[in-house]
Amino acid sequence: MAKAGMDVTEVTTPCLLLDIDKVKENANSMIERCRKLGVKLRPHMKTHKCLEIGEFSTGGTKACIAVATLTEAEFFARGGFDDILCTALFTADKINRMKTLSEKLKLFHVMVDSSYAISLLKTPPSTDTRWSVYLKVDCGNNRGGVRWDDTAEALSLAKAMLDSSCSISFQGLYCHDGNSYACRGASEIKTVGGTSAERLLLLADKLRSGGVCVPTVGLGSTPTSSHPTESMQKLTELHPGNYIFYDVAQSVIGSCNIDAIAVKVATRVIGHYPHRNQLLVDAGFAAMSHDGRGVLPNHSTCVVQDHPELSLVNMNQEVGFIEAVNGTMNYTDLPLGSLLFLLPYHVSHVSCKPCIM
Ligand SMILES: Cc1ncc(COP(=O)(O)O)c(C=O)c1O
Repeated sequence: MAKAGMDVTEVTTPCLLLDIDKVKENANSMIERCRKLGVKLRPHMKTHKCLEIGEFSTGGTKACIAVATLTEAEFFARGGFDDILCTALFTADKINRMKTLSEKLKLFHVMVDSSYAISLLKTPPSTDTRWSVYLKVDCGNNRGGVRWDDTAEALSLAKAMLDSSCSISFQGLYCHDGNSYACRGASEIKTVGGTSAERLLLLADKLRSGGVCVPTVGLGSTPTSSHPTESMQKLTELHPGNYIFYDVAQSVIGSCNIDAIAVKVATRVIGHYPHRNQLLVDAGFAAMSHDGRGVLPNHSTCVVQDHPELSLVNMNQEVGFIEAVNGTMNYTDLPLGSLLFLLPYHVSHVSCKPCIM
């Protein structure tokens, strides 16, 4: 793996480069945005899965984070993080690992959206701990969660948790508003964020009217957390993840400017093919992922930094096919072995080895 401070011309390609100043800037902007909004930031670690970046994104506290899997929870717990919420729905095979995390951490939270999951929490993790549980709510994302307008189901699940003979402590509501990924521009993002927040807050009020205490009402995705609305001030926490790096998809959605993207894949030119006006680079879908294939203008899958005339039009596992948009490739300026930098479409699935620059 390449090292921090190494000259970029020395890296073995393909290689994921992190611009650590931009990572810190993205981390601090979100911390500041949440401070101004008056809501707690619970950053999601699923994008980076990295202790150092987790520390930046929590402002050094190493507390109050969300993770996507128990493996991530165990990794961050070993790294000294606490107050960890695992956002995956769980089944019986996961209970022992959840128990260990509940015993080890001061705060470990899990997420349910069914009476099946609640029934798995009948026994407390230990004699002096209780399960800390969020109810997952669907405010229009159509993935997991109780529907925001199904008050009867939400109330029945919340009451089942209250009646759990002290094995469960009900934390509140969590909604991932991933439907914001269909937005284009800040105004559409604000509509989705505002609507989701209002739906979640309405459900929280209905639960309270039904006698349930709802301490936490959390909502989040990178687009809506990047353009919060006034109604989001009434939430208690936000949980974006991708914002720490941003990517081309986020710039297309309107969450960020292209300048905020903190990651790029370094790749080298490995072949010239003038008869078909293409060149090959050593980054294919194993490095770049399949995400965003051909969705950008000129059928590109990524932005080729400083080369608006180039388009990544196809990928095999290890190889990318680059064409000149105007039909004439300037091979003299891009000799074999020369470096190009690809801004990925969706950073979460980029899988080449990272290098902090
Ligand atoms: C449950 C959950 N919460 C939060 C997030 C963070 O959203 P984003 O990646 O838009 O920042 C995700 C991302 O997929 C998620 O699945």
